[in-house]
Amino acid sequence: MVSSLSLILCCFIFISLSISNAVVPPADTFRYVNQGDFGEFDSEYAPNYRPLPPFTYPFQLCFYNTTPGVYTLSLRMGTRRDQAVMPWVWDANRGNPVGENATFSLASDGNLVLADGDGRIAWQTNTANKGVVGFAILSDGNIVLRDSKGGFVWQSFDSPTDTLLFGQSLRVGGPTKLVSRASATNNVNGAYSFVIEPKRLGLYYKNMLYWASTFPEVNDRNVNIVNATLEIQRTEYEENYFNALKCRLSNSEAQPNLDFDILRYNSTLSYLRLGIDGNLRLYSYRQNVRFSSWSLMFTLFTRRVSERGEIVEDECQQPDRCGKFGLCEDSQCVGCPSPEGVFAWSKTCNVKTPSCKAGGSRYYQLKGVDHFTSKYSPGSGPMKQKDCESKCTKDCKCMGYFYRTDLSRCWIAYELKTLTRVGNSTHLAYIKTPIQ
Ligand SMILES: *[C@@H]1O[C@H](CO)[C@@H](O)[C@H](O)[C@H]1NC(C)=O
Ligand SMILES: *[C@@H]1O[C@H](CO)[C@@H](O)[C@H](O)[C@H]1NC(C)=O
Ligand SMILES: *[C@@H]1O[C@H](CO)[C@@H](O)[C@H](O)[C@H]1NC(C)=O
Ligand SMILES: *[C@@H]1O[C@H](CO)[C@@H](O)[C@H](O)[C@H]1NC(C)=O
Repeated sequence: MVSSLSLILCCFIFISLSISNAVVPPADTFRYVNQGDFGEFDSEYAPNYRPLPPFTYPFQLCFYNTTPGVYTLSLRMGTRRDQAVMPWVWDANRGNPVGENATFSLASDGNLVLADGDGRIAWQTNTANKGVVGFAILSDGNIVLRDSKGGFVWQSFDSPTDTLLFGQSLRVGGPTKLVSRASATNNVNGAYSFVIEPKRLGLYYKNMLYWASTFPEVNDRNVNIVNATLEIQRTEYEENYFNALKCRLSNSEAQPNLDFDILRYNSTLSYLRLGIDGNLRLYSYRQNVRFSSWSLMFTLFTRRVSERGEIVEDECQQPDRCGKFGLCEDSQCVGCPSPEGVFAWSKTCNVKTPSCKAGGSRYYQLKGVDHFTSKYSPGSGPMKQKDCESKCTKDCKCMGYFYRTDLSRCWIAYELKTLTRVGNSTHLAYIKTPIQ
């Protein structure tokens, strides 16, 4: 029994060795320990951080924390010479932090491992014995494990967190989304995601769509989107050529784009960020500029009116614009609805949790109001308003329903959050409230 087991084991080792005998040369292996002094330059979320030796201008790997002893291994963009706040553009272990004395290592087998001080593996690339011969941070911020032919066995561009770097892609069937961070102090997944789908790009709050970009070129030719890549393209504007920053959507025939902005200077060091607030922003990095090397080029939800035909949306479309509850108009929170009427909005504006008992709740009506999901989701129906209401009444978790009398369509809301005033009396909202 013992001998047959060791024979199998021998065969297994022999087979694994013959499949891949490539190893990382000793000089290229490393093991860095999370200990020692903190760095002293301004970084995003104002953390303590420890820079690690791997650095490729302007990207550096660091351990950082926003709560003592709770560390993320992350890639930072910017240099101390800039004296500007440096953003974190990729996390290895979001939601699975490590502590003091954690180790980040590349062994000769080619597996890149982040382990806690007690040896617990927090994150790894699972690339042991897969032909890895070296590690590098490339000049575009892609962290790669290379094989002997120069191919990437693993790359950080395939596991984005909330940031898309220039040249990085989201792909249908690949890394499909960016996920927001919960808060500045808490580095776990937040409620928002930016997702590539075969026919559109969408923004979700939990599973609720609050924005989508659909492309006529894609629907007309009945093709699917393959990938969305952040790119700079030469573009014509008012008879002059500029560089435009675009999200290029690749598929076999149509070449639709999502235009962000015209670049006033050439910077391939740009990133698209899904913010803590669910907004999408694009920043560009100006080299050799002090204090303000980062400039905000584009904000999806904004008060600004679109000047050059790029897509912009009113801030009211953001689920969290008015906090837990509020009526929004022209990017401003203008009212706090209640069964007794609409009062002035404040941060404390909230809904009363409806009763789950049969007959324990009633509805009050708001006219000319949309839910944040109404604009981009078709709702259900056509159906009668009383059927829409009874759907909500039967569902204890339903907080209210939205009904369009002109289309006979129905939206059930499990969270109310920001309601948009649309000034059209065919748009009705019915908010569930307990009977006192
Ligand atoms: C980290 O390791 C050092 C020894 O290298 C030890 O003195 C220290 O107590 C350790 N810190 C923690 C938090 O385990
Ligand atoms: C995106 O898709 C196109 C094919 O439609 C392909 O040529 C290109 O390499 C893809 N880009 C990335 C970064 O995957
Ligand atoms: C932009 O800058 C990069 C690197 O500095 C350079 O390689 C590229 O040619 C420049 N592009 C344009 C259009 O000037
Ligand atoms: C209200 O919406 C309907 C249907 O979308 C539209 O036909 C009508 O013009 C709108 N009325 C106003 C005042 O915006």
